[in-house]
Formats: sequence, C-alpha cells, structure tokens
Amino acid sequence: MCGIIGFVGKDEQAAPILLDGLERMEYRGYDSAGIAVRSEAKGLQVRKAKGRLKVLSDLTQGGAELEGVLGIGHTRWATHGEPNDVNAHPHISENGQIALVHNGIIENYLELKEQLLKRGVKFTSDTDSEVVAQLLEFHYNECHNMLEAVGRCLRRIEGSYAFGIICSDYPNALIAARKDSPLILGYGESGNYIASDVTAIIKYTREVSYMDDGEIAVITSNSVDVFDDELTPVDKKRSVVDWDVSAAEKGGYAHFMFKEILEQPEAVRRTVSPRIKDGRVVLDDLDLTADYARGISRIYMIACGSAYHVAVVSKYNWERLLRRPVEVALASEFRYSDPLVDEHTLVIVISQSGETLDTMAAMREAKRRGGRTLAIVNVVGSSIAREADDVLYTWAGPEIAVATTKAYTTQLVLMDLVGLYLADLLDSVEQAEYKAILEEIQLLPEKMDQLLEQVGDVQYFASRYFNHTSIFFIGRNLDYAIGLEGSLKLKEISYIHSEAYASGELKHGTISLIEPGTLVVALGTYAPLFDKAMSNVVEVKARGAEVLSITTESFRERMEKTADASVVVPDSHPVVQPSLGVIPLQLFAYYVALQKGCDIDKPRNLAKSVTVE
Ligand code: G6P
Repeated sequence: MCGIIGFVGKDEQAAPILLDGLERMEYRGYDSAGIAVRSEAKGLQVRKAKGRLKVLSDLTQGGAELEGVLGIGHTRWATHGEPNDVNAHPHISENGQIALVHNGIIENYLELKEQLLKRGVKFTSDTDSEVVAQLLEFHYNECHNMLEAVGRCLRRIEGSYAFGIICSDYPNALIAARKDSPLILGYGESGNYIASDVTAIIKYTREVSYMDDGEIAVITSNSVDVFDDELTPVDKKRSVVDWDVSAAEKGGYAHFMFKEILEQPEAVRRTVSPRIKDGRVVLDDLDLTADYARGISRIYMIACGSAYHVAVVSKYNWERLLRRPVEVALASEFRYSDPLVDEHTLVIVISQSGETLDTMAAMREAKRRGGRTLAIVNVVGSSIAREADDVLYTWAGPEIAVATTKAYTTQLVLMDLVGLYLADLLDSVEQAEYKAILEEIQLLPEKMDQLLEQVGDVQYFASRYFNHTSIFFIGRNLDYAIGLEGSLKLKEISYIHSEAYASGELKHGTISLIEPGTLVVALGTYAPLFDKAMSNVVEVKARGAEVLSITTESFRERMEKTADASVVVPDSHPVVQPSLGVIPLQLFAYYVALQKGCDIDKPRNLAKSVTVE
C-alpha cells in the first residue's frame, strides 16, 4: 500500500533519491505518486501524478527539474478520494509552507475538517491526509515551532499514521511521526532518511532505527533527534539491516515473482540451518518451557491471505504432532469474534510483512485477553515482530512480488520446526517420527532444487491451459491446504476464476460445475490419502474434466493412468511434502499469468502489505 520516503542531504540532491526510493516501493501497490522538494531559491516545489511512477519521473526529468537537498515522496493507494493528481500526496497547507505525506487513516478527519472549514481554511483534495497538513499549519501559526505544532496536532488526531513533513521555514529539517504505521529512520553518509519500508533506502544505508508509536523525529543531514509524545528526547537503538541490496532487485529476471520462486531453496536453507543442531530443533529466540507447553489448552493460528494458508497446513501438522486442538482463524474474523483466549492459549501470528493491519489488531486482541503471542515474521523490526511476546523470523530476504512465494514456503518450514519443538517439549511425538521429519526438512533445499529443474514442464502445461476461464483445485488433507494457496496464486495474478475444494466435498457442490473440458488441478501428494484422492480424480474425469495432476515419484504411475498431465515432485515425509507440492502451483500461476500478459508483480487492486482494514 502507500509508501513514504524522505531525505535530507548535505549536498546531494533529494529528488532523484526520492524517485529511486519510490520505485523500490512500487511493489507495495499504488495508484499515484508525488514528491515535494525544498530549495533556498524556489521554496517548496511539489509534483504529483496519477498512474505509474514513470509519469512522475518524466514530469520531473528524473528529478533533475527539482532542485534541493530536502524532500519527501509518496506512493498512494487510494482510500479517501479517488486516485488523481489532486488527491495524491504530498499535501500542501493553504499558505504553502508545509508539505506532508501520510500513510494510514485519520479516523476523525471529517470532524477536524469541519472545524478548520469554520475557520475559513480552504481544502483542495478529498483526503483525510490534507486535513493534517492544514491542521499542522493552524498549530504552527499558533506556536511558530514545528515540533510543538506536530505534538499539538498529534494530540488531536485519531487513527493510524506515518508522516513525513517539511516546512519552508526549516530549510534543513525533515519531521517524522508514527502511530500504527511503520516508519524507519535511516542514517547515511551523505544525509539521513525516513522510509516506510527498508527496501526504499537499503541502497543508501543499512543503519536504521525503527520508530515506535507516538514518537516524533527531527532529522537533519547530520542529526536525528527522536521525542516521545510528551516531546521528551528518546534514545533510539540503531540496527543494521542485513538484507542484500541485490535481493531487492530483479537481477536480470523478467519478474520478481519468478526470481523469488527460484530463491526458495536458499531461503529455506537460511531459515532452517541455524535452527537445527545435533539432530534437534534449537529455537534460541524462543523462551517456552515444558511446563508452559503442558498448560496450553488451545492454540490459535491467525493470519491473512497466503499466511493464512500456511496456518491451514500447520493446523494439520501440529495436531498430528502435538495432539492439541489448533484453531485457524482469518485475522479479520478473529478480531471481531469475541475469541476464546485466556492465559492457557498460545496464539501464533503469521505475517510476511509484519504490518498487516488485521493481523496486528487480532494479535493485540489476543494479548488483551491474556493469550501468549508468538509471531512468525519476515520483516525484521516490523510492528508485529516488535509487539509479539516472542518472534521467530523467516529468513526469506526481501519479498517484492505481491504474490508471495518464498515467504510462504519459509513460513511453512518454520512452522514445522516450531511444531516439532513443541511436540518434543510435550513428549507427544515418537522420536523416530521427529527424526524422520527433521531429516526431510534438511533435505528440502536440495529437493526443491531438483523440482525447480522441471520449470519447463509447468511452462508447457500453462501454455496448454491458460485459456481456461475457471479452474478447480482439489485434494485431501494437506493437499487441500496447498490447493487453497495454488488457487489464490492463480486468481491473484492471472485473474482466472478458481476455487479450491476438499475432494471429499466435491459431491456436495462443485461437481455440478464440472463439464467436458473443465480444468481440474488434482493434488495427489499426500500419501496417507492417495487412494481416496484418486477416486475423486476418477469422478471428475468421468464428467469430462481435463486433469492436470501434481503428484509424487511414488504415485506417478498410478496417477498418470487417469490424469491428462502430471507434474511430479520428489517424495518427502507427509508433514514436509506441502513445501514441495506448492512449488508447481506457484509456477503454474506464474506461467499462466505470463501467457495472459498480466502485470505479474503488481496485480490489479492488490497490495503487498495491507495496512488498512
Ligand atoms: C496481501 C498479500 C498476500 C499476503 C497477505 C498477508 O494480501 O498480497 O501475499 O499473503 O497480504 O500479508 P502478510 O504480510 O501479513 O503475510
């Protein structure tokens, strides 16, 4: 969703840096963009444009047209007011002295707007964000001190925000504030930065601080001062981001999604290897005792989108290993469901970005009710990671494509490790099974590499099937769980209608939609129920379906007798098998979308990190 960048340099020009940072955040999804730069000679200069960043870049000749070492930039994903040049950020206060960019939603903006209108303030846009620019000017005119004015303004607004602010009276200062929307301070050689997303500034600096809720920062080219909501100075810890810059670049690949699919063996290796020592799962960052584990009466797994599908897989696996009830909940449902959480409830929160608003709100609700929260997160220092009682990181590296792939598989494998770890504490898993699963987890990167050699086969099937207008995914147990993800991937990026069904449920509904030629992707990788899954394949074949199967080496022969086409994945332990089975589904979605000429990395209407409800 929206992205913020700000820069204040010693001599270096701000505009090209702002445009570059915005380009690196394009993946988050946006519909318009803008920058404001201040110079001694020209004061505040603002340029905004609806559509792709290229339009803004052309408008400013790659930034060369705007002179100045201080500036802010924004990519907007419309919430209040349609996507157009006027509603794009930065917003300028009425007398033109303050420019502001905002991520989040100001909930009481209508009330504040009303009050300002009564004082004769004129508005140009329909946004909640402009209200803050105007309110800030009002308070600045009262106290003539920007920090104080920001403090007064924040005390009046309700909602979520990350702000980047410049004021024509402060030629060397950038002001930032945050509540419930991420904002990072970056310390560079040639100046300092703010950004809503580390990928925007990683090319320039790896040294960062994460702003906390209620904090305000004043940034100049050689200083960064942070204050709490009472304007008392705060000492900020600096961290070093260890992401590789090239990981956030396409590096010759046509799409980030394809690059990220291929990065999965390495991402899984990074996530797994530091956590296995001498044949045991070692989770140094996790402080759960056997006593605590024995007291767990209920486990919730909460997430959105693909992370939710990880939870669906993990429910099967954890119930098998822990013999404890696990409930899977969509974060947006959980938070309003009066959930049964108490101090004996362990709440697992899964999120790539660590910023998904519904997931964050669900986690807070669980904490409020006394549950213990463990977050599985990819982005270090993200809000969910910082607020959870415990956090375990997936070391997938930056994931840029909207459709998640490597974050999904690293979440899966990390959930398997945590499941094994807890099962061991509870003594609920046979040691032979523990060992077998762990061995297979360690073999995953190698088996993924082997599987990725078949990219050409999937590409061929995609070219054969991409014209279908409706595609069904069927499977049982863990195959059903990965079918959900395969179906989501396909709809997200190829816009083909698709549904995932538990095979056993077919005859209660979906089978009525199967007619000659309907494409069914049949998942037959879950060994314990292969025979049952096979009978459902036969059922759809009998009604004329075209069947593309995903199966394992062991079942290949039997599957190929019935299916029209098959992609074969290496055999593994059933608990670990989904991490392999899902890869052909990711590739299938990718190649179908490619055939259809879709904008794969930035599918319409979707955003990478969903920071609104
Ligand atoms: C968006 C993304 C999905 C992602 C979901 C949850 O919808 O497009 O790929 O699975 O948000 O995001 P999170 O960052 O919490 O995993």
